[in-house]
Amino acid sequence: DTEPPANNIALHQLTELLKGSVERGEGNSCLIIGPKGSGKTRICNQALLDVSTRPITIRLSGHVQYNDRLAMREIARQVSIQANESLSAAFGNDEDPFAGKPGEHAENDDGDDLNTVLPPTSHLPSLISSLSSLSRPVVILIDAFDLFTGHARQALLYCLLDAVQSCRTGGEGNRGIAVVGLTSRVDVVNLLEKRVKSRFSHRILRTAGMRRVEDWSMLLRECLCTPAGDRHDEPPSNDDNDEQGKWQELWHRSVDKFLNERPFSDILKDIFSLTRDLRVLIRIMTGAILDLTANSPFLSANTVQPHAIAHRNSQYTHVLSTLSYPSICLLIAVQHVRTSGHDAFTFEMLHELFRDQVRTSAAAPVTIGGGGIGMMNAGRAQAFEQLVCIRIFRPVSSPTAGLAGEFIKHRCIIERQELKAAVERLGQTTLKKWLNK
Ligand SMILES: Nc1ncnc2c1ncn2[C@@H]1O[C@H](COP(=O)(O)OP(=O)(O)O)[C@@H](O)[C@H]1O
Ligand SMILES: [Mg+2]
Repeated sequence: DTEPPANNIALHQLTELLKGSVERGEGNSCLIIGPKGSGKTRICNQALLDVSTRPITIRLSGHVQYNDRLAMREIARQVSIQANESLSAAFGNDEDPFAGKPGEHAENDDGDDLNTVLPPTSHLPSLISSLSSLSRPVVILIDAFDLFTGHARQALLYCLLDAVQSCRTGGEGNRGIAVVGLTSRVDVVNLLEKRVKSRFSHRILRTAGMRRVEDWSMLLRECLCTPAGDRHDEPPSNDDNDEQGKWQELWHRSVDKFLNERPFSDILKDIFSLTRDLRVLIRIMTGAILDLTANSPFLSANTVQPHAIAHRNSQYTHVLSTLSYPSICLLIAVQHVRTSGHDAFTFEMLHELFRDQVRTSAAAPVTIGGGGIGMMNAGRAQAFEQLVCIRIFRPVSSPTAGLAGEFIKHRCIIERQELKAAVERLGQTTLKKWLNK
C-alpha cells in the first residue's frame, strides 16, 4: 500500500464524518489541511465512494467562485443538476433568482452582464437553509477554503456553518449536511471571523505528501503496471489475449528495469528534492509516455530527462536571461547564503556577501558600470525590489507594519542549477568564479 499513513487516518476520519451526515442526518464540518498535491481531493473522492447512499455533492473552489454571489449561483446550479429540484421553491416561486435552470446556463455563460445573472446576496440565508430540506443529504466540498475567508463578512461560510449547527441540534425532516474545507494554509482557522469560528467544529484532518522517494517509485510502478484493456467493449479473442499477455510481461520487465536504473532514480530524486507535489511527477511522466512510439516503446531515463528539465525550466529560464547584472549578483549571493545553511535572507545579508566578495577576491565582479562598487548600494536595492516584484524572491512572512523592507526575510525560488546555466550563458568569468567559490 503506497498511501501515506497520515492520509489513511484522514480518510478514515472523513469517511466516518460523511457517514454521520449522509446516513444519520447529522450536521458536520471539518477542514482538511495539507500541502498541494498531497491527496486532499483524492481522499474526499474516496470517502464519498465509501458512504452507502450518494449525497448531493457540491464542489466549490475559492479560485473560481471568488465572491459569494458566484458561489450561490454555482450551488444552485449543481443542486438543480443533481437533485432535479429547483431551489427557487424556497422563494415562494415567482421567479428563480438563481438563473441556473438545467440546460439554460450554457447560453448565459458569457456575454451576459454578470450582475443581471448573479443572485443578490440577500437570498444567501434562504438558499443555504433550503439545502437541508432537499430530498437527499448534502456534502459541500470547498477547495481553496482560505480564499473564502476573504469574501465580504465571510457571509457564505457563516451561513453554511450555521446551517450545519442548526442541523446538529435536531429539527425533524433534516437530511444531514457536511461542509468540508480543503486548504494548504495551516493558519486557516485564524482567518475565520469570531462568529464563523464559533460555529466551526474545529475538526481538522491532515494529509501529508509521500515521505520517501521510494514511495514515489512504488507508486509509479503501480501506475505504469495498471492492466490495460479492461475497458474494451469487446472481449479480446484468445489470440489477442496471448499477444497481450506477452506484451504485458515485456512491459512489466521494462518498467522494473527502468525504475531500478541509476539514471532514472537520480532524476526522480532531483524532482523529489524540489517538490513533494505528486502532480508534478505525474505531469513529467505523462509527457515522457506520450513520447513513446512503436519503434521505441519502453521508458528510459533519456525519455524522461527532457520533460524533467522542461518542467524545471519552463517558468524561469527566459526570465533569468533578461535579468540585470546586479540581479544576477544577488542570486549568486543567495546561493552562498544557502551554502552557509540558511534558507531565508534579507537584502542586508546579500549585500554584505557581495561586499566581502569584492574585498577579498581578485575575481570580484568589478565590472559593474565600470565604477566603484561602494556606490552600487542604490542599484542593488533596486535589483532586490525587481526580484521581489517578479516573485523570484518571496517574503517568508506577510509584511508586518513597522518592519522596514530591508529587514523582511525572503526566500528565493531559483535553484542553483538554473542559475548556473544562466551565468554560463552570460559568459562573465568573474561571476562564474564567484558562483563556484
Ligand atoms: N497516495 C496516492 N496514491 C496515488 N495517487 C495519489 C496519492 N496521493 C495523491 N495522488 C494523486 O496526486 C494528484 C494530486 O492529488 P490531489 O488529491 O489532487 O491533491 P490536493 O487536492 O491535496 O492538491 C492526484 O492526481 C492524485 O490522484
Ligand atoms: Mg485538490
